Amino acid sequence: MAQMLETDALTKVFGGFCAVDRVTLAVKEGTIHSVIGPNGAGKSTLFKMLTGTLAPTSGRVRFAGHDITGEPAHLITRRGLAQSFQITTIFPRLSVLDSLKMAIVARLGRSADFLTSFQDSGAVCDEALEIIEQVGLAYLAAAQASTLSHGDQRALEVALALATKPRMVLLDEPTAGMSPWETRRMVNLVRGLAQSRNLTVLFCEHDMDVVFEISELVTVMHQGRVLIEGPPDEVRRNEQVAEVYLGSEARG
Ligand SMILES: Nc1ncnc2c1ncn2[C@@H]1O[C@H](COP(=O)(O)OP(=O)(O)OP(=O)(O)O)[C@@H](O)[C@H]1O
Ligand SMILES: [Mg+2]
Repeated sequence: MAQMLETDALTKVFGGFCAVDRVTLAVKEGTIHSVIGPNGAGKSTLFKMLTGTLAPTSGRVRFAGHDITGEPAHLITRRGLAQSFQITTIFPRLSVLDSLKMAIVARLGRSADFLTSFQDSGAVCDEALEIIEQVGLAYLAAAQASTLSHGDQRALEVALALATKPRMVLLDEPTAGMSPWETRRMVNLVRGLAQSRNLTVLFCEHDMDVVFEISELVTVMHQGRVLIEGPPDEVRRNEQVAEVYLGSEARG
C-alpha cells in the first residue's frame, strides 16, 4: 500500500520553544491512523502544519506523492487533504443543506465547473443531500447550523470536509465534549467513511477507547517528539506510554 501522507523531520519552533520536534510520520493510503499524547504534546501544531495553517520551521510534508511543504491551506485542500473546521465559525446562520451547498459551490468555484454549478444547481443539491445523508443529518437538513447539538455540529463539520472531495481527512479531537451516544455515532461515521469512500483518516483524540477501537496504527507524541508508534495492542501495553500519561496526570 502506498503512503498517502509522509512527514520528514517536521519541526515547529515558537520563539525558543520547540512544539513539534523532528516528527517523521507515514500514513498509509486507506487506513485510519491516530496521534495520541498528553496535553501540549504537539498534536494540534503538527496537524496545522499538515494542512497549511502553520508554516513549518523545518522539515518536509509529502501528500499523495507531492511535496506540499509551505503551500497555502486552500491549495492543500484542493489536492485532497481536508480538515474539519468549527462550524460555528463558518456558516452559523445557514441551514445544514445551504452550508453544504456553499461548500460544494466553493469547491467548484475554483475550477472550470464554476458556471456549470450555477446552471445545474440540481447536481449541487443532490451532492449536498447525499453527504448529509451519509453523516446522518438528513432529518436536520433545514435546521440552522448554530442551533444543532454539539454532536450534530461536529457531524456537520465532517460533512463540510467531505464537500471538498478529499482523499484524506484530518480530525483534531473529533469526539471532544461528546456524550457516549454522540461518540459512538462519530466512531461509526469515521469508520464508515474510511470504508465507503476509501478515505485515509488521521485523527488525534484523548478518548483511548475510540483510539484503540478504530486505529490501525497509533503514533504516540510526547513533548513534541514521537515516542513510539505501533498497532493499538502494542501501544496499549507499552510501559513508556503509560508513564507519559501518568506523569501528565500527576502534574494535573
Ligand atoms: N501559537 C503558539 N505560540 C506559542 N506556543 C504555542 C502555540 N501553539 C501551541 N503552542 C505550544 O506548543 C505546545 C504544543 O501545543 P499543541 O496545541 O500542539 O498540543 P496538543 O498536543 O494539541 O495538546 P492538547 O491535547 O491539549 O490539544 C504547547 O506547549 C503549546 O502551549
Ligand atoms: Mg490539540
